[in-house]
Amino acid sequence: MQNYLHINDLDNLQETVKEAVELKKNELKFNFIGKDKTICLLFFNNSLRTRLSTQKAAQNLGLNCIVMNFGSEGWQLEFEDGTVMDQGKSEHVKEAAKVIAQYCDIVAIRAFASLTDKEADKAEQVLESFRKYAGIPVVNMESATGHPLQALADAITMEEFKVSHKPKVVLSWAPHPRALPHAVANSFVEMMQLQDADFVITHPEGYELDPEITKNSKIEYNQEKALENADFVYVKNWSSFKDYGKVVNKDASWMITVDKMSLTNNGKFMHCLPVRRNVIVTDEVIDSNNSIVIQQANNRTYAAQIVMKKIVENL
Ligand code: CP
Repeated sequence: MQNYLHINDLDNLQETVKEAVELKKNELKFNFIGKDKTICLLFFNNSLRTRLSTQKAAQNLGLNCIVMNFGSEGWQLEFEDGTVMDQGKSEHVKEAAKVIAQYCDIVAIRAFASLTDKEADKAEQVLESFRKYAGIPVVNMESATGHPLQALADAITMEEFKVSHKPKVVLSWAPHPRALPHAVANSFVEMMQLQDADFVITHPEGYELDPEITKNSKIEYNQEKALENADFVYVKNWSSFKDYGKVVNKDASWMITVDKMSLTNNGKFMHCLPVRRNVIVTDEVIDSNNSIVIQQANNRTYAAQIVMKKIVENL
């Protein structure tokens, strides 16, 4: 594999999930393949899980790992061509990407959506600039429109916990006080479109995701109806796509409660974390035995590790 920018960069999702589940049983089995290779993790935004799990995954493969909080410690980057750089931005991505590429063999990037400029976000300016100028493999650690490492970890987690061959999986919007990006939901939808499952998206009107991503996925505006007999309830907030980046509804009745979970088929509660308790989900649900959010976060290591393994093998 050259880059991991999107879940579709995997040749075969199901095979990759199986490989990751095997790798998890003996996570140091390939601890020699990264010898004398270096991955550089660049964070333009905050992180807990992505930062630590990706570092751990790199260590498990014997890769050297350099981490930089680019958003707070790097020079402010210019991304536009031909700009007269006489304002706040100190360095062009053309130089920055080429310089960074001399220090490592793979670069991984976290750069969230602006949520103010839909077209720039859709163009994936940061990720695409590094892909264009760095000339080394690039890994997406959550970009403007996608979080494919999270989606792969979610697929691994569902493989481990599923009780039927074709589970019912519900992606439910839940309220949040702030405007959040679409990346996690987008990648979850794209991952589910590759799965043999009964998949339903539920959200209030006005929170439709990008129709180019949801395509023919089923959308049910009645949350309780959507939750009926669900095996997995994947909960996430996102802001409006149509009224781009706006919070158009904070309807607290969409919070996931024990009563809502009682409609499911003893369904598992999933969330990518971080999560706001008693806003997105009640304490009772997230603290219950049916909550698999901690196991889901653990699988971030094996998602990152299988992706890096495939890239290192191709260097
Ligand atoms: N789920 C996830 O990406 O977590 P962090 O933002 O903490 O990395």
